[in-house]
Amino acid sequence: MAPLHGARGSGAALATRARLVSGLTLFAFVTTHLLNHSLGLISLDAMEAGLVWFLGFWRNPLGTFAIYAALSVHLALNLHKLYERRSLTLGAIDVAQVASGIAIPFLLAAHLVGTRGLQEFAGVEPRYALTVNAIWNGNVPDQAGLIALVWLHGCIGVYFWLRLRPWFTPLRPWLFAAAVLLPVLGFLGFLAAAREVQALRASDPDWWRQVLRETGLPPTSELEPFARAAEYIRYGFLGLLGLVVAARGVRAALERRAGLVRISYPGNRRVEVGPGPTLLEISRRFSVPHASVCGGRGRCSTCRVRIDAGLDTLLPPSEAEARVLARVGAPPVVRLACQIRPTRDLDVTPLLAPDIGASGVAARNFEAGAEREIVVLFADLRGFTALAEGRLPYDIVFVLNQYFRAMGSGVEAAGGQVDKFIGDGVMALFGVMEGPAVGARQALQAARDMGRALDRLNHELASVLRAPLQIGIGIHAGAAIVGEMGYGHATHLTAIGDTVNVASRLEGATKEFAGELVFSLAVARLAGISEQSYTRHEIMVRGRGESLTVGLVRKVAEFAL
Ligand code: FES
Repeated sequence: MAPLHGARGSGAALATRARLVSGLTLFAFVTTHLLNHSLGLISLDAMEAGLVWFLGFWRNPLGTFAIYAALSVHLALNLHKLYERRSLTLGAIDVAQVASGIAIPFLLAAHLVGTRGLQEFAGVEPRYALTVNAIWNGNVPDQAGLIALVWLHGCIGVYFWLRLRPWFTPLRPWLFAAAVLLPVLGFLGFLAAAREVQALRASDPDWWRQVLRETGLPPTSELEPFARAAEYIRYGFLGLLGLVVAARGVRAALERRAGLVRISYPGNRRVEVGPGPTLLEISRRFSVPHASVCGGRGRCSTCRVRIDAGLDTLLPPSEAEARVLARVGAPPVVRLACQIRPTRDLDVTPLLAPDIGASGVAARNFEAGAEREIVVLFADLRGFTALAEGRLPYDIVFVLNQYFRAMGSGVEAAGGQVDKFIGDGVMALFGVMEGPAVGARQALQAARDMGRALDRLNHELASVLRAPLQIGIGIHAGAAIVGEMGYGHATHLTAIGDTVNVASRLEGATKEFAGELVFSLAVARLAGISEQSYTRHEIMVRGRGESLTVGLVRKVAEFAL
């Protein structure tokens, strides 16, 4: 069994890679094509000049091979995936991708035959004037629909590929803007060029005759075979779709004869289904809430389940599944629901909340704990005990909540995450996913922003406070154990270890120095800040044999980063 599964696993990994590479090749082609269209907003001549570069890149033998190989591989893999899907109960974004993937070949056929087909089989020289005129006097909605569907399909694919990368979230608004702008500019470029061509044809018939002569476009009567070829391509694709549907029907009948499999979920929920679908597809078919941030693509690990009974009836994890499970430190009883196909009864427990989003994935990937180089920040409100004396509890809670809000938003705006509020103190982590260099800079920026937020808060609460609130912040960088710790709802991502203890000690040291910020030299070096912006001191830290060099900033709101 294992070797067979190993071969299937590596086949699946190869198919995933081939889908990605072919998809990215097609996406690059479409992006450059739309950029070329958008030059129509400048002029038809600019568009034609861009076409020379476009064709030079994509119509040399290598470019031609790349684009047609990508098109064939992507189409074949998508048809295979359609066959493989046991459940067509999909989320909206998956429906959009599958539906656009089916519609594109129908719309693409005429465009392909009218451009590359004419070039290859009738010797027509490619010119925007010719194509734009044909579309303008032919079927503009079809071509606009083609642009929209191709672009939507590609963007969904790229989105699923990138969405879990740590740098994706900050870039998201920019990428979204580019994704909306490019097809709009492309379509407007086409419209502008189409109007220019029509105007030129009306004012200068010789120009149009020259275009026809130079491109070698055959008379309309000779174009009939090309229109038929586009029809045949559509029928051919329809036939392939029919084959996939028929194959799905045959397989479903065979699987039904093999008997039912019972899946037991927590809370005495039981479903019965024929063998074949993945566990995630089964959950979806029976509306069992189940996390699946990557949509069942085996990348995010959020669909993971603990197998409480029946583990030995499952095939061992494929290479790709094993890699994802290892990344999150999952024990052997944990499997990815989107990768296992139950053939016998199973008892399973989904491990993540069904509504987890992409931003929660990074945090949950530390469920089993991992050692990381991170940056830890501690902040403490100075003299709050004296401040609270003689006040109504309501006043204290009000002031503290204002303070926590100001500190929390300072941490999050800089890119960190609040670990916990302890009394009137705050612990925050930076660089958990991005690494310590980014984390150090973020932590120092957060410290400065927290100082400024406190100044604003003191100003706003001047009539309520007897004395301004004061803060002490300590920051240290180093190795720490990062993981999901706690119990029940109190479980959250946190860090433990010497780095955390030292950061806490540095926060305490702010009192000794009568300053607001103390950070270790490791933080200063990682962040690359100028030595002019702080003063250096040596301190002894309990439990460490040697002294630690630290940087001191007396007024953190004025810290020059
Ligand atoms: S849904 Fe993402 S790995 Fe299964």
